[in-house]
Amino acid sequence: MVTQLLFMVLTKLKMTDCLGDEAGDMTPMDLYEKLTSQGDTVRTLKTEKAAKADIDAAVQLLLKLKVDYKQVTGQDYKTGCPPSECAVSQDNGPAAAAADGEDMVDPWNVSTTNAKGVDYDKLIVRFGSSKIDQELVDRIERVSGQKAHRFLRRGIFFSHRDMHQVLDAYEKNKSFYLYTGRGPSSEALHVGHLIPFIFTKWLQDTFDIPLVIQLTDDEKYLWKDLSLEDCHRYTVENAKDIIACGFDINKTFIFSDLDYMGASPDFYRNVVKVQKHVTFNQVKGIFGFGDSDCIGKIAFPAIQAAPSFSNSFPQIFKGRKDVQCLIPCAIDQDPYFRMTRDVAPRIGYPKPALLHSTFFPALQGAQTKMSASEANSSIFLTDTPKQIKNKVNKHAFSGGKDTVEEHRKYGGNPDVDVSFMYLTFFLEDDEQLEKIRQDYASGALLTGELKKRLIETLQPMITSHQERRKQVTEETVKQFMTPRPLNFNF
Ligand SMILES: *[C@@H]1O[C@H](CO)[C@@H](O)[C@H](O)[C@H]1NC(C)=O
Ligand SMILES: *[C@@H]1O[C@H](CO)[C@@H](O)[C@H](O)[C@H]1NC(C)=O
Ligand SMILES: *[C@@H]1O[C@H](CO)[C@@H](O)[C@H](O)[C@H]1NC(C)=O
Ligand SMILES: *[C@@H]1O[C@H](CO)[C@@H](O)[C@H](O)[C@H]1NC(C)=O
Repeated sequence: MVTQLLFMVLTKLKMTDCLGDEAGDMTPMDLYEKLTSQGDTVRTLKTEKAAKADIDAAVQLLLKLKVDYKQVTGQDYKTGCPPSECAVSQDNGPAAAAADGEDMVDPWNVSTTNAKGVDYDKLIVRFGSSKIDQELVDRIERVSGQKAHRFLRRGIFFSHRDMHQVLDAYEKNKSFYLYTGRGPSSEALHVGHLIPFIFTKWLQDTFDIPLVIQLTDDEKYLWKDLSLEDCHRYTVENAKDIIACGFDINKTFIFSDLDYMGASPDFYRNVVKVQKHVTFNQVKGIFGFGDSDCIGKIAFPAIQAAPSFSNSFPQIFKGRKDVQCLIPCAIDQDPYFRMTRDVAPRIGYPKPALLHSTFFPALQGAQTKMSASEANSSIFLTDTPKQIKNKVNKHAFSGGKDTVEEHRKYGGNPDVDVSFMYLTFFLEDDEQLEKIRQDYASGALLTGELKKRLIETLQPMITSHQERRKQVTEETVKQFMTPRPLNFNF
């Protein structure tokens, strides 16, 4: 709270200083937008070979805006890299944003050259979120009265926005709701897709709160070469896998954008409000849209924003617009919610809070995340025990040495070993996991033995998922996806 106030004061001071009264209410995002637009102006003037004086004046204004921007946000202006919300509260200074040239993270691509995976500490600085530290994990345990989920204990959910605020309110008996989602681009989910859902179910059970799950079939239609019918069919198939994670039918609403946008005037009203208050320059800066992207893509972020506001679901929240939203998601979805948090106060709504997870690595190594379109990078929820065994044995990148002799002598490297990474996601027992890590690093445990542990962990997990999924009927899907009141008493 204090840092945010300071931030606002600074913003206000600086803005009035440099840009006169009219700019007094500019947020860093407004300033960023102005800069992006001024950059466009300069380019246009140059292309059109305008008078030198005009170009010089435009360049002068651009430079001045850049100086202001740096003073206000503590970061250098970078095209396509909007201001992170809490830049001033971090001590990292201007260099931080520009420093990590190697990791690439956006809602569509994740890649790094580092075998250990993306540098998440740097990402926290770049995105301006906060680290989930031991103090927060302890607090979640204290407030909920439950042992923290292994994803929290092991830093798999590693970053947050405003989680302390959610807990402050919860302690004063003010409840909240959960919102997560998925883009249904194929029938086959892989194990990595389960991460947000496993964690969301834990949050739902632990805090006993309602949950909305958005299936962005419209997004997949806009981005992929798929028919509307296919996207909608994937939605229903994916919903079965999601339901198989064990969500409480009396507290969970799953919806397809293609269905719900047309069925809910309140939802659409919020979409339009967001659309009115976010400019093309902003989404261009956040998502990198270009002139040849279809207008559906440009408008889509508002649709992913809308479920963050409780009055998008009048049947659940009875028209209340002030119920706090908490979004568990992978960190690559954060750009959508930076935009949402920026726009929320301007349309009279609370900002959603977030919990961010790391990526689930591909079998070939943590340089990329698991991708359903690369069959050999993925363990699917439809794989048989034999397929799981073969894939892990053939494709899982090993941190072991080339020969048994060398491995016994020098030990393996669990930090780059994909089988070990997967065990950190799925093996519940902390002591067992730590023993495996030590034995692998010392060379006592061989790569084949480590892979065997993983196979034995994955096979029953996936088999029981398949059994639960078989129990999910079309009727159950319909129930989950029908707009209706939930068991909700705030
Ligand atoms: C990033 O994702 C987009 C959309 O899927 C794709 O067109 C593009 O080639 C990707 N870029 C990289 C560098 O992988
Ligand atoms: C919250 O609710 C519990 C149980 O109803 C009650 O005992 C407690 O005093 C309430 N706390 C606050 C701060 O209102
Ligand atoms: C959901 O509510 C119905 C009606 O109150 C009840 O019969 C059912 O047992 C509840 N289901 C769960 C999973 O709590
Ligand atoms: C996947 O792996 C199998 C077995 O190693 C191989 O035969 C197949 O060509 C691979 N497929 C792709 C698309 O790389």
